[in-house]
Amino acid sequence: MVHSNSNNILNFIQAPSIVKSLSEFEELIFNPSKLTFIEIDFFEKFNEIAKILALNKIKGNVVNIGIYKGGGALYMKSVFEELELIEKKWWLFDSFQGFNVETITSSKEIETLKWFNQYLENVDEPKPSDILDLFRKFNLHKNLNIVEGFIENTYKKYPQESISLLHIDVDFYRSTYNCLNYFYPLVVSGGWVIIDDYYLSSTDCGEAVNQFIKENKLKAELKRLGNYQAGWQKI
Ligand SMILES: C[S@@+](CC[C@H](N)C(=O)[O-])C[C@H]1O[C@@H](n2cnc3c(N)ncnc32)[C@H](O)[C@@H]1O
Repeated sequence: MVHSNSNNILNFIQAPSIVKSLSEFEELIFNPSKLTFIEIDFFEKFNEIAKILALNKIKGNVVNIGIYKGGGALYMKSVFEELELIEKKWWLFDSFQGFNVETITSSKEIETLKWFNQYLENVDEPKPSDILDLFRKFNLHKNLNIVEGFIENTYKKYPQESISLLHIDVDFYRSTYNCLNYFYPLVVSGGWVIIDDYYLSSTDCGEAVNQFIKENKLKAELKRLGNYQAGWQKI
């Protein structure tokens, strides 16, 4: 077992700095030692959010949708454990078979999906057991639930308990909207919602968030949390 210090984990997952070139993007997919797509800048902001949750003793589980190789979720859990936010249950949802084609309908997003798939089809998808092994390696597997399948089918497995952190990283419009629709009502006041792809221009993830906020008349003060990420604290 390796020590679960969050700095060690940040090194271990080899989080990228800004991904500028296609070859850097390919590395993130094909190099098995690179365990997250999420850039280091975000993780620095995440540390601040975790401290706010700890300081304000915000209760509730963590729900994370879009895990891929698991590096992002692993780092986030290590930060929570360091802050002794250990009573929370962690729910990790992923299809473990890529994107839900049926929910991707605009021509822009269909083109983006084709582009992603030309890479993803040439590499084995991670499996739930790989993710569990990764968390075990750092003794971070307590209170962990890993749910396999498209979120549109699996969200009902979540026991309707309060959520303190909702992290959504499913890239596309409809799935992002669906995740907000299923889980946002369970986020407690003072809890945080993080959207990994808010500023991604090749999909309409940001528009899904704006639409959800508008339809539900939310007073969400969006903060930029990285090159692509945005989030807000629920009032
Ligand atoms: C960009 S990756 C997540 C990256 C990860 N957060 C990290 O730290 O690198 C997007 C993931 O979302 C999953 N995904 C996309 N749409 C989904 C859906 N509708 N239901 C479940 N998982 C989905 C994909 O299988 C993929 O693993």
